[in-house]
Amino acid sequence: MKILGIESSCDDTSIVLVEGHETYTEVITESNKSQIDMHAKYGGVVPEVAARMHTETIIPQLESIIKTQGMPDVIAVTTGPGLITSLMVGVETARLLSYLHNIPVVSVNHMEGHIYANFIGKEAEKIQFPALALIVSGGHTELVLMKSHLQFEKVGFTKDDAAGEAFDKIAKMIGLQYPGGPKISKLAQDGNPRSHKFPRPLIDSDDFLFSFSGLKTSALYYVHDHEELKDEKNEQERADFAAAIQTAIIETLVTKTIKAAEHYNVHSVLLAGGVAANKMLRETLQKEVEKNGKYFSMPAIPYCMDNAAMIATAGYFKAQQQHFTHWHDLHPDSSWEIPLL
Ligand code: KG4
Ligand code: ZN
Repeated sequence: MKILGIESSCDDTSIVLVEGHETYTEVITESNKSQIDMHAKYGGVVPEVAARMHTETIIPQLESIIKTQGMPDVIAVTTGPGLITSLMVGVETARLLSYLHNIPVVSVNHMEGHIYANFIGKEAEKIQFPALALIVSGGHTELVLMKSHLQFEKVGFTKDDAAGEAFDKIAKMIGLQYPGGPKISKLAQDGNPRSHKFPRPLIDSDDFLFSFSGLKTSALYYVHDHEELKDEKNEQERADFAAAIQTAIIETLVTKTIKAAEHYNVHSVLLAGGVAANKMLRETLQKEVEKNGKYFSMPAIPYCMDNAAMIATAGYFKAQQQHFTHWHDLHPDSSWEIPLL
């Protein structure tokens, strides 16, 4: 079965064709257009600009894939959560293609998609349920329990800012452009993580909730008292600051994830979302999960960021269970959340 994936929920227009292999998928071809350079000028994603850029590129991207590969068996499209005007572009494209060529469509939740990035490639055969997924992106920080395929229950979430948002906002305080996460991570390589101890809110609480706004405020005061951090010439001070911030965020994420993995007695832990590209998070979480005797899975770096391969992969598992939506009933839902346990 060949699945065409369409993802346009935020600032990436991504179209992909994957082949399903029972327990995993394989990417045949993909076309990705990032809008980061455009939005960086404004310090964040501008919804109207994002939607307009999606409309300019989505059809040529689709054409380049269909011309060489022919029509897919199934279309999988992100219908939420995300920016409504951005979602509409992908959804309308899917509707039209389905109507014109009579191709079945599956509607995919963007967060489910991030989790399913772990099912791209043969390694996915090793994932066993129940599994716990830590999804960390610019808009979300969630712990999701998966009892089996497509059975999702949210067991943890952030009370305020998402981890990626904390990275981005703190990076901005020292003059780093959006998205700040990868820039903080790069600076941190040469820094001392113990140079300053930033707060790790809720790290010892009995629930699986996160909070990053206190850390953000603490960073704001710190930068206010250390104006030199804004000057690129002070490389070591900036590196130390970045390392201390990164460690505060990652220690919190890892501690809570391990706690939840033990509480729910899962067999596997899956990492997902844009922040999953962070080297320290990948290494630390893997070490801790394996120390606990559980299987650890993380997507290849390009599939951590928003991409259509993860959407097509979630779509493949949905199509296996006949979860189709008639094009007539396919609509974007910008606030579609994974249900709470
Ligand atoms: O999943 P994603 O591509 O888009 C959303 O759905 O939000 O995630 C983007 C987020 C941004 O906040 C970005 O700063 C963060 O992922 N990010 C990172 C790294 N790479 C991307 N954060 C920390 N370290 C990284 N290496
Ligand atoms: Zn995302």
